[in-house]
Amino acid sequence: MIPYFNEEGSADAVNGRMGPDVDPRLAEIFTALVRHLHAFAKEVHLTQEEWEAGIAFLSRTGQICSEERQEFILLSDTLGLSMLVDAINNRRPLGATENTVFGPFHVDGAPVRQMGDSISLDGKGESCLYEGRVIDLNGEPIDGATVDVWSDNAEGFYDVQQPGIQPKWNNRGRFVTGSDGKYSFVGIKPVSYPIPDDGPVGKMLSHLGRHPYRPAHMHYMVTAPEFRKIVTHIFVDGDPYLESDAVFGVKKTLIASFEPIQGDIAWRSPFDFVMVPEEHRS
Ligand code: BEZ
Ligand code: FE
Repeated sequence: MIPYFNEEGSADAVNGRMGPDVDPRLAEIFTALVRHLHAFAKEVHLTQEEWEAGIAFLSRTGQICSEERQEFILLSDTLGLSMLVDAINNRRPLGATENTVFGPFHVDGAPVRQMGDSISLDGKGESCLYEGRVIDLNGEPIDGATVDVWSDNAEGFYDVQQPGIQPKWNNRGRFVTGSDGKYSFVGIKPVSYPIPDDGPVGKMLSHLGRHPYRPAHMHYMVTAPEFRKIVTHIFVDGDPYLESDAVFGVKKTLIASFEPIQGDIAWRSPFDFVMVPEEHRS
């Protein structure tokens, strides 16, 4: 172990200071973090000015955080890290519904509604019937599954982004399946919208020649006793941002059809959620 710092052995000099009784997982994470951080600085030959710009960027990211705004998660989302951590921790067998990014706009405790009810309280947007089943890998219906849903409104904002403008719980609700595993509700056909881009992350995207848009989606969190939680969205097929989602949330299996239908409701989007038993890990 080298006691003094030099360029070549820089990571070893730092990691060599680790105390003897450090929690093994913490030691593993920090050793790798230092190794990769130093390798990164060497690979790009980081200049003093660039280091200062990086510190200033991270400072601004922290300074804009509040109870309502988590710019660091947005940074993780836009760097693809949130999707990577989700992928590492939610490997599922073929046929099971895939997870995607949770996002900042879920609210606990949305009203439990009856099957077929509408979640659109502002009467805006194109109505859409969402229906399908919650089933297991054998196609058997799951009784007592909670289907928690949320989406933006016709202008691309969640109710929590517009308190006092949108009704509370607009475009949100929970639905509990019966023994047939079926769910259905009426919402709007969601629209694509930009992630909050008035802070350092928005500026970063613009410097990188990236737009801040997410393709239109309906969020779902599906839970059932003894099954692994699904946190996902369904995406509107044909959306222009499907292949350039600002947070990399799109997976092919989550692109859903939206069919025009006759009658009072304009659209129908069928989608089944396939759950994996709790003990299944891969
Ligand atoms: C969302 O889909 O609500 C979302 C996800 C990640 C960042 C911002 C918004
Ligand atoms: Fe969203």
